[in-house]
Amino acid sequence: MMLPPSQQRALLLLLSALLVSHVSCLGEKPSEKKPVKPLAAPLPAPPPVIEIVHTDVPGQEEQLETVSPPPVFFATENSSVVTAQTGSTALVPCIVKNIGDGVISWIRRKDYHLLTVGLTTYSSDERYQAVHAQHSEDWTLQVKFVQERDAGLYECQVSSHPPTSIFIDLRVVEAKAEIVGPAEKFLKMGSTLKLSCVLRQSTEPFLYVFWYHNNRMINYDADRGVNVSADESRTSSTLVISSAQRTDSGNYSCVPNNAQPASTYVHVLNAGENPAAMQTGGRGLSWLRSPSLWLLAGCVALTLSAGRGGAVDEASRSRRRRRVNSL
Ligand SMILES: *[C@@H]1O[C@H](CO)[C@@H](O)[C@H](O)[C@H]1NC(C)=O
Ligand SMILES: *[C@@H]1O[C@H](CO)[C@@H](O)[C@H](O)[C@H]1NC(C)=O
Ligand SMILES: *[C@@H]1O[C@H](CO)[C@@H](O)[C@H](O)[C@H]1NC(C)=O
Repeated sequence: MMLPPSQQRALLLLLSALLVSHVSCLGEKPSEKKPVKPLAAPLPAPPPVIEIVHTDVPGQEEQLETVSPPPVFFATENSSVVTAQTGSTALVPCIVKNIGDGVISWIRRKDYHLLTVGLTTYSSDERYQAVHAQHSEDWTLQVKFVQERDAGLYECQVSSHPPTSIFIDLRVVEAKAEIVGPAEKFLKMGSTLKLSCVLRQSTEPFLYVFWYHNNRMINYDADRGVNVSADESRTSSTLVISSAQRTDSGNYSCVPNNAQPASTYVHVLNAGENPAAMQTGGRGLSWLRSPSLWLLAGCVALTLSAGRGGAVDEASRSRRRRRVNSL
């Protein structure tokens, strides 16, 4: 196909113009660079990654390969101790930074039992579970209904090269209830009976506390003037009987859902009785249970028999003396 000379010229001009513009694109002219606005604040550096780029520039590949990922490390202190009360859910912590593709395993050191790998529980004991939210660095081991036999070292291992571990010591305690004050309490009829029950060695609050008078649960005996309340932290419970009667005497027990119970003996005394005299009266009941008093009684009996023994000796001696005299 042939073009008329005028059109040929126009095409030539167009081609040369394109060529010139292309060349000018290749040849950098600093004056034409757009000024780069300085950033108000520096952007955080992107996380370094291993990237092998195939390039013709010698040495370039080597330089990129030396960019290594940040090292794996534990944010949980090695040899930490966690305490849990029996029956509670223990949380054994393990926070791992820069885990990358690594996998966390939990191992019970006592018997090298593999408990969990990643989010999978390997143990047949379903009380064990790794608790981990997606993208979090937290790989806490959860142990439900902790028993005394669960106490010991737990290893949190990262499958890095070489694998690295921390060891957490789980201690199991038995929570106990305690009724504040002496084991026996005395109060006048018509006065307010107030008993406070406190949890000791507990690592979690109670769900409920039942109060017993002898063998009867009295939490809901509002018609008898009974009021049971818990403090905000749910580690202490208070029993109040607004106007105590003689019949309110007896054995009171505080039974939390998650701790050993406690009891105390309450003596409600008649209005006319002198509290001091009643206290002695009360002790009159309980002294029989007191080992020190039994010991004292035993000592008195021994002393008496020893004295009698001495008297016998004295009598036989004088008899002998008399016999000697008669000779
Ligand atoms: C944690 O301590 C144990 C020894 O008690 C040690 O073998 C282990 O390497 C320590 N782990 C780390 C990450 O330092
Ligand atoms: C029981 O005692 C608590 C705390 O003193 C009080 O807030 C509550 O109103 C009482 N309940 C009744 C039914 O008297
Ligand atoms: C009070 O009751 C509790 C629970 O029934 C019991 O263990 C305790 O021995 C009793 N105490 C007395 C002094 O009777």
